Amino acid sequence: MNEPAQAVVDKLKQSAADAIAAELQNGMIVGLGSGSTAKLAVDAIGRRVHEGLKIIGIPTSERTAEQARELGIELSTLGDHSQIDVTIDGADEVELGTLNLIKGGGGNHLREKIVAAASSRLCIAVDESKLVSHLGDRAEVPVEVAQFGWQATARRLTKLHGEPTLRLQADGKPFVTDGGNYILDCAFGRIGSADVLQRELDSVVGVIEHGLFIGMASLIVIGSSEGVKRLDRESA
Ligand code: A5P
Repeated sequence: MNEPAQAVVDKLKQSAADAIAAELQNGMIVGLGSGSTAKLAVDAIGRRVHEGLKIIGIPTSERTAEQARELGIELSTLGDHSQIDVTIDGADEVELGTLNLIKGGGGNHLREKIVAAASSRLCIAVDESKLVSHLGDRAEVPVEVAQFGWQATARRLTKLHGEPTLRLQADGKPFVTDGGNYILDCAFGRIGSADVLQRELDSVVGVIEHGLFIGMASLIVIGSSEGVKRLDRESA
C-alpha cells in the first residue's frame, strides 16, 4: 500500500478505535484485543483511564498486556474474573449481514477467542476495508496447530481444501504464538458455509484453534470515509 493510502486507513482505524473506547463505563471488566486497531483502542482506553475511568482489563496477548501496563491500565485474569463485560478487538474480515469474523492475522486468535467467549459483548473496531460480502473473500483463515506433527495436521487441512502455509517470521523461522504453537494460514477462498467449516476445523486432530469467529460479535464499529458507522447484531 502506498504512503497516502496507508495514512487514510490509519485515520479510519483511529476513528473506529476512539469510538469503541468511548463505549466503556466505570467498573467494567474489559477484554483487551490484539492487532494494530486494538492497539489504538487500548491507547484510547489508556487516555480515558488517565482521566479517571476505572476498568480492569483482561489482555489477549503478551504484547497487549505490556502496552496496557505501560498505560497504567489495571490488569487481571480469567482466573479472577469468570465474566467479562465487554471485549474490544479488531478483525481481518467482517461479513456483512452475519457479522461473522476472520481473526488471527496477528496470531493471537486463541487467546482472543477464549476472552471473547467469556464476554457478554464482543465489540469490533475496523476500517471499512475489512468489510466483505462473504468470509474468505480477502483473508486466509489462520489455524493455530501444535508444533508436534504439524505437517500431518497440514495434510488434514489440505483435505478440507485449505491450502495451508506455515506462517514464518521475517528471519524465515516459524512464527510461534504466545501459547507456543505454530500457525497454518489456510486459503479456503470464498467460504460457502462458515458453520460447516468451523465444525470441520474443530474436528481436525492437531488444531488448537482457528480464526473463524461465528456468531460472536455483538457490535462492529467501522471507520469509514463517511464517518463512524455501527452495525449491531440486533439490527444485522
Ligand atoms: C490478532 O491476532 C488479530 O485477530 C487481529 O485482531 C486482527 O488480525 C486485526 O488486526 P489489525 O487491526 O492489525 O488489522
